[in-house]
Amino acid sequence: MISGPFSLRLRRTLAAAAPLIAALWLSGCEYDTYPKDLAYPLRTDLIVVNAPKNETPFYPPGPGHLEEEIAAIPKLGGQVVDPTDSKKVSAAQRKPLFSALNKAFGSPRQPRVGATEGEEPEVVAQLTDLKLRDADAAKPFKSLAAGSKVYRYHCVHCHGLTGDGRGPTGPWVVPHPRDYRLGEFKFISSVNAGENTRPRRDDLMRTLHTGIEGTSMPSFAVMEERGDDLEAVVSYIIHLSIRGLVEKRLLVEIASGEDYTDEAKLDEKVHEVMKDVIQQWADSNSKTLEPTKGSYVENPSTKAQTDSIRRGYVAFSDPKGAASCIGCHTDYGRQVNFRYDDWGTLVRPMDLTKGVYRGGRRPIDLYWRIKGGIGPSGMPKTGLPTDKEIWDVVNFVQAVPYPQMLPEDVRTKVYGPVGEHPGTERAER
Ligand code: HEC
Ligand code: HEC
Repeated sequence: MISGPFSLRLRRTLAAAAPLIAALWLSGCEYDTYPKDLAYPLRTDLIVVNAPKNETPFYPPGPGHLEEEIAAIPKLGGQVVDPTDSKKVSAAQRKPLFSALNKAFGSPRQPRVGATEGEEPEVVAQLTDLKLRDADAAKPFKSLAAGSKVYRYHCVHCHGLTGDGRGPTGPWVVPHPRDYRLGEFKFISSVNAGENTRPRRDDLMRTLHTGIEGTSMPSFAVMEERGDDLEAVVSYIIHLSIRGLVEKRLLVEIASGEDYTDEAKLDEKVHEVMKDVIQQWADSNSKTLEPTKGSYVENPSTKAQTDSIRRGYVAFSDPKGAASCIGCHTDYGRQVNFRYDDWGTLVRPMDLTKGVYRGGRRPIDLYWRIKGGIGPSGMPKTGLPTDKEIWDVVNFVQAVPYPQMLPEDVRTKVYGPVGEHPGTERAER
């Protein structure tokens, strides 16, 4: 028992220490490392296997309702798997999966990728190229641990502990923060390899430098000046993404009747799927969508530029042509047609008269978007056969938000007669 006067002294001491504790807390040391015993939990949210393909009649629900968009999928003809449904994924399956994933991918404080001992040399080479492993054989995952610290400080509140896009801020912002566990990204420059398309490291770095315009994803360019290591956090995102995709594939297999209660068989399977996913990252990272040399004309004469914009307009607006952009970007995107993306959330074909580009506004950014498509959002890679035609469409897309930049005949087609759309009468636009 604590006697009266002593308890008073204790209370006074505690009161005196309070500012010190607060200062320590505010100084950030609380936030930059994860507790030692923290493990990546097994996912419990619905897994989207097939999102509905058609446009949906409804708008995204308001902030805070992320799961409602996903829960509506089965009613609209899509397919989801509930990993908490014990008839499909029993406790006897979840437990060994949890420990097999932890063996292969470590913990938030000590992340890793690969077999705990004796990883195959080809896999080591791929992991080293992707900067998931360091050359130092004694501490091969030092960069991943450094990236995890940066992630905890700057990203986890939106992108979530496992990269599920469900940090505390996540459900409250629209579009929702990227859920990395699908292995899919939107703003990329790798060759479109269907569902096996992964981004290049450079793409993730670019996104971190520029942020994503028109969304809550900020630019982190200043972090480099503070000394934070953006390369390390990119490695960490790739780690989360590989872990999430392996987890997803195994849960879906188990839910469809595969038996992985045997620990050794499961470890082997986790390793096999992991190798497959690493291979996809390595392939995508090594190939950039490069425009044909000389296909882009910089600083063209006004006449050449006007002609190119006009050709771009024709390609864009022909509903039966090889580009067929207008079929989705109805009325140049001014008409709002929501559709499901691969994450099971709603996206709309961008309103191209607004001049907001999530993936960057340089000609090369728009070239990549059109040439490779935005796979997870359902925008296909273009059917335009030559790069010259793609650049025409890029020139049109760049001019369309600014009526005064369009040749008069095109301007009338897009905006109607002068004065019909606000802004068409103002030369400064
Ligand atoms: C305030 C919330 C927020 C924070 C903090 C945040 N992000 Fe994001 N992030 C988003 C949103 C929202 C998107 C999705 C935008 C979209 O779908 O167009 C996104 C998307 C991404 C993407 C996907 C890009 C693509 O091509 O698909 C990456 C990579 C990413 N964020 C990395 C990070 C990293 C790394 C950090 C921390 C350094 C971070 N984000 C912090 C909100 C955030
Ligand atoms: C099947 C539907 C579909 C077709 C066809 C389509 N798009 Fe898209 N487009 C979309 C969707 C959906 C988005 C929004 C993607 C997102 O933000 O997730 C989009 C976004 C865009 C963006 C914005 C990119 C950014 O960085 O924000 C551009 C530019 C674009 N599309 C141009 C085109 C062009 C040019 C064509 C024809 C070659 C085309 N689209 C064909 C559905 C389509």
